[in-house]
Amino acid sequence: EKKLDILNLPALEDEAKKIIPTGGYGYIFGGSEDDWTLRQNTKAFEHAQIVPKALSDIESPDLSTNVFGLDLKTPVMMAPTAAQGLAHAKGEADTARGVAAVGGLMAQSTYSSTSIADTAAAGNGAPQFFQLYMSKDWSFNESLLDEAKKAGVKAIILTVDATVDGYREQDIINNFQFPIPMANLTKFSEGDGKGKGIGEIYASAAQKIGPDDVRRIAEYTDLPVIVKGIQSPEDALRAIGAGAAGIYVSNHGGRQLNGGPASFDVLESIAKAVNHQVPIIFDSGVRRGSHVFKALAAGADLVAFGRPVIYGLALGGAEGVQSVFEHIDHELEIIMQLAGTKTIEDVKHAPLLHINYAD
Ligand code: FNR
Repeated sequence: EKKLDILNLPALEDEAKKIIPTGGYGYIFGGSEDDWTLRQNTKAFEHAQIVPKALSDIESPDLSTNVFGLDLKTPVMMAPTAAQGLAHAKGEADTARGVAAVGGLMAQSTYSSTSIADTAAAGNGAPQFFQLYMSKDWSFNESLLDEAKKAGVKAIILTVDATVDGYREQDIINNFQFPIPMANLTKFSEGDGKGKGIGEIYASAAQKIGPDDVRRIAEYTDLPVIVKGIQSPEDALRAIGAGAAGIYVSNHGGRQLNGGPASFDVLESIAKAVNHQVPIIFDSGVRRGSHVFKALAAGADLVAFGRPVIYGLALGGAEGVQSVFEHIDHELEIIMQLAGTKTIEDVKHAPLLHINYAD
């Protein structure tokens, strides 16, 4: 447990590499194929620019926001990421504590090292979402949805971009198999994931997902269902038509379809098509306060990130997670002040420029 002295979030990756065992580190930092989409994710924020607003007469920007009926102190949230026990012995429980300390929102993964109830308890009343990897076994899906509801989770995130594992070269190089069990899979007939690779685990999940599956899940649970892995206006509208209460624009951090666009580059057109029918969560490549600002200005209501939080967890447990959020919030606050935006609502209405710089 320790507070981290952070210069910037990209620098955490090298620090974390020193302490996370090779296989686990490869699984966390890697993308798919030659990582092209992974690299574009962060670069794409250079495709939009923020308009400075000096004569705005504002001070002390306020990062708080209300989305899905939740009062949050920051628009930055923890993306659902699997097996956080790879990074730290206390895994998701410490992530939950760190996120709760900043008044933020955490999404738990189906493939968590810690159970839904234990992670929720560690959050001590702080809002959490639960991400579902749909299984072919509907009793399994239903039991997780029931458990999430019982644990006080506020929404379900249904991930639809992982019906097959991306071609993850790091995992192949390291012959990576999870050294720790996945707490939510212990009662699953195909095993708890320990000793398996992510491809094998996905293979026991659903290998095809369509609008009818979204509808079936939305009808089963009375929690809002947010569909994650949307990268086109068409898919966004299909999801809403099937009962989605939220759209989660993501390319899984460049871990699934390599060769697709950077997630930021598709955000504006999706937001335009969704046209405020439901809230939008955005992730993939966010590392800076300016990235958060640009994503909000391009149409996101919440902005998530994954890897930097896992690195913070590895380096400092709950306090490391807290430090990562405090750092990105600090950068965001500076950008908000200089852009003359007092509130997150102002940021959402801020203009973006699209100047094409040669470099
Ligand atoms: C993920 N992601 C993910 N997504 C999901 O829906 N369920 C999951 O279990 C996981 N697991 C997972 C593990 C690890 C190690 C990573 C890095 C990512 C994807 C995640 O929710 C999110 O989309 C990305 O992490 C966003 O990209 P950045 O912020 O890591 O660049």
